[in-house]
Amino acid sequence: MPQPKQRILIDTDPGIDDAMALLLALASPELEVVAVTTVAGNNPDVRLMTHNALALLALGGRDDIPVAQGAAHSLTNRRLPVGADVHGANALGGAVIAPSPRRAVAESAAEFIVQHARAGLDALVTLAPLTNLALALDLCPELAQLAPRMSMMGGALAVPGNATPTAEANILNDPEAARRVFAAWPAITMAGLDITRQVVIGDAYLQRLRDVGNRAGVFLHASSQHYLNFYHSKGEAGLHMHDVHAIMALVRPDLYTVQQVCVDVETTGELTRGQTVADWRGHWQRAPQTSMLFAVDAAAFLEEYAKRIATLP
Ligand code: BDR
Ligand code: CA
Repeated sequence: MPQPKQRILIDTDPGIDDAMALLLALASPELEVVAVTTVAGNNPDVRLMTHNALALLALGGRDDIPVAQGAAHSLTNRRLPVGADVHGANALGGAVIAPSPRRAVAESAAEFIVQHARAGLDALVTLAPLTNLALALDLCPELAQLAPRMSMMGGALAVPGNATPTAEANILNDPEAARRVFAAWPAITMAGLDITRQVVIGDAYLQRLRDVGNRAGVFLHASSQHYLNFYHSKGEAGLHMHDVHAIMALVRPDLYTVQQVCVDVETTGELTRGQTVADWRGHWQRAPQTSMLFAVDAAAFLEEYAKRIATLP
């Protein structure tokens, strides 16, 4: 008997690895992407994030999935364009992508999240700063009970940050929002840098995606060149497909091992603002709300990703 599809809403700041993740979601028969919401992050202009989300859905042959535009800045109005240099001019590594003729819906991202949670979601997927989720909680305080399952790319628990020595970019771009989300949601699958750093790809894998010959593979290869150069400039062997893990964990959870832990977010530390803190030893005496992705079968992950992308237009 085929399993019913998991109904998901994806909150994103596309972004090269967001593009990788969105396309995986569209290529996954286990998922029904009911909506996409956008937020400023990889580029400080949320309108560009919305433009990219619409264009990527069209590229993936899903010009029917509605997109709602969200927050233009963090809850405290501090704009931190972390990511702008990482993802290049159009946030997609300068790769050419046909614009979609569609526009965002009239509702805000926060309104759309609440609307879809009320209609029934199996998981909220977050690939970006958590501002829209915090704003949605303001609109609907019972939101985390309506849609208790979240798959999040964000944070770094037992490894260094990428935006500061201790903070990962999505959390640093809105630590107050992230703190509210970790306090409210009871079942978070966390794809932090702990897991995303375990899969490294270079030119050979990107060429494999391109050589499939479909437009998704050709686009992913082109879009990732800037990203790969960025990683090389930092002395790394290849790039990390961060956001992809938040989707892969939904469709192939068997590829991961997880550890249950309670997580909170530092908002005031002079050196540590935006750090995700794990209570490994139960000091807080709070129930663990987070399934931290802890280890991954990297070879199987890469096989699965390439196989699924090959099914797209
Ligand atoms: C995260 O930050 C963004 O730059 C990426 O899209 C990803 O969501 C990685 O730290
Ligand atoms: Ca992202």
